[in-house]
Amino acid sequence: MTPFVSVEGLSKTYTARSLLRRSRAATHAVRDVSFAIARNTIMGLAGESGSGKSTLARALVHLDPPSSGEVRVAGIPLARLGRRGLRKARRRMQIVFQDPHGALNPRLRIKYSLGEALANAGVPRRERRARAVELLRLVGLGPEHLDRYPRAFSGGQKQRIVIARALAGKPEFLILDEPVSSLDVSIQAQIINLLMDLKQRFGLTYLFISHDLSLVSYVSDSIGILQDGRLVEYGPAEQVLKQPRSEYTRALFDASPAMHRER
Ligand SMILES: Nc1ncnc2c1ncn2[C@@H]1O[C@H](COP(=O)(O)OP(=O)(O)O)[C@@H](O)[C@H]1O
Ligand SMILES: [Mg+2]
Repeated sequence: MTPFVSVEGLSKTYTARSLLRRSRAATHAVRDVSFAIARNTIMGLAGESGSGKSTLARALVHLDPPSSGEVRVAGIPLARLGRRGLRKARRRMQIVFQDPHGALNPRLRIKYSLGEALANAGVPRRERRARAVELLRLVGLGPEHLDRYPRAFSGGQKQRIVIARALAGKPEFLILDEPVSSLDVSIQAQIINLLMDLKQRFGLTYLFISHDLSLVSYVSDSIGILQDGRLVEYGPAEQVLKQPRSEYTRALFDASPAMHRER
């Protein structure tokens, strides 16, 4: 199998200059992480708050450049791309963040939020409206929503719009960073189902990030567990769930809500 996404020895260290001390405090947010994701599969990434999940997500797409390590997407090493090449490659991979309220500009009608993303994806102006309607339809919304502002939508609807926008450039790889954590439990399942439908329909590959291991186990083909920036567990979902190597994995599973645990 040629992996669609491969990550080799990825590290990210933040150094904060202290005003009072001459030394620099270093936070090793991600340490020497390696994994691979096959096309059209879902890798789940779990770990408690502060374990480095979001840092890993940003470093993976070089939104924040990694301190060391290599990332390949569709065989292309991202570090060797120039700025233009990276911008083009980023259309193939998108991140959906936890907070849909912060992700949408409150002053922009939905058609402009989507229009901007379509423009960035190189869609000619005359085609943008039709494509925006199509994007909304994919996430279960309609053309009547185009003229509205974000405040007119519920949290779940906003996350649908954020997902629609992420699809503007026809990406192949989505990083979903706590995509349902800010939503009511009753809405979470709807968004998860939508994400599963979209994956099937477009043959997408996901990195699905959550602090909730039972949710991760519900959707994932393979699972990685981050603890203090290290990948302490990684393997096929069945194996990680049935025979976890680390005590931390067990504790994380016990700490997560029971709703998805029937798998
Ligand atoms: N921009 C940053 N500058 C300095 N430290 C950061 C920055 N972003 C994250 N960190 C630190 O990196 C660690 C991992 O954070 P994060 O990746 O947000 O974890 P998670 O998403 O798992 O909650 C934390 O200790 C956090 O304080
Ligand atoms: Mg995070």
